[in-house]
Amino acid sequence: MTGPELMLPPSVSEALLGIAERNTLESLEARALDTTQRRALAEGLSSFQWRAFLDELSRVWSAFDHAVVRSCPALNDERAALLLALSLDSEFKPYRGCKIVKHFKMSPWTTELSQSLRDGHFHTDLNTAQEPPRVTLIHCRVPDPTQGYGVLRVARLCDLLAELRQQGAEETLRLLLSDTVDMVDDRAQGSWSGVMASESAIRFHPETLRAAQRRGARFSEPLEEQLNAIHKAALIVSQPIELGMGDALLVSNTRALHYRGECTVQYLEFPRHFQARQIHVLHLLHEPLWPESNPRQST
Ligand SMILES: [Fe+2]
Repeated sequence: MTGPELMLPPSVSEALLGIAERNTLESLEARALDTTQRRALAEGLSSFQWRAFLDELSRVWSAFDHAVVRSCPALNDERAALLLALSLDSEFKPYRGCKIVKHFKMSPWTTELSQSLRDGHFHTDLNTAQEPPRVTLIHCRVPDPTQGYGVLRVARLCDLLAELRQQGAEETLRLLLSDTVDMVDDRAQGSWSGVMASESAIRFHPETLRAAQRRGARFSEPLEEQLNAIHKAALIVSQPIELGMGDALLVSNTRALHYRGECTVQYLEFPRHFQARQIHVLHLLHEPLWPESNPRQST
């Protein structure tokens, strides 16, 4: 193993497609939200190749806090992302009651961070939640039309802290590891107050810190300088990750920050019809349960 990448074996990909073809997205989401039914669904994928894949995935995850899974099926809906996530044997985080997978298409006409063409921030998802999800899965439905755009990056917390220490960035380390800060999510109308990071876990999103500052929260040092220092250090300790059609990134939402670079569009007919990056995103509530810790799957 040389990096965080692994291939989904062709037989697993076929099994996954087979389940997808026999089920609607709605029925898969309903079953995935029930622990017993979710595990029964995963049993449908069980094979020697599936267990070997889980084994490799668990090793990659432990070593890198993220994994890039290549050669997953690319369907024109969210089913493949949901089925691939069964490999982590964790509870899904639902939204709007019974939905699991979100579909995003980048657009030049939105100011929504998740769909704007502007490059994003290094962040963790749902960072003002009481218990943020432990895993984010991003599945590529359509890559950016321009090579080198829409790239992802993952900065592991341990690497980020080591880089900041090496730089002697004491104020930035204090902001992350010692200061009690407020974070406000304008969209979800959530807020959280506390210390953002320890040596082993982080919750972080520049926009929620800025939103808190707009509401009067004080920071011990100029916020933008510290955010800039974190961004630069995260760039140094991360590598660009390009997802092709069907590829997926699984990333720890507590031990790593993730980032998406600038995106492009190709107009088919200005202004409404255009090609752009499309992704599926879902969240898992708990750390993955791997075969070693799950006797049910270890036979
Ligand atoms: Fe995110």
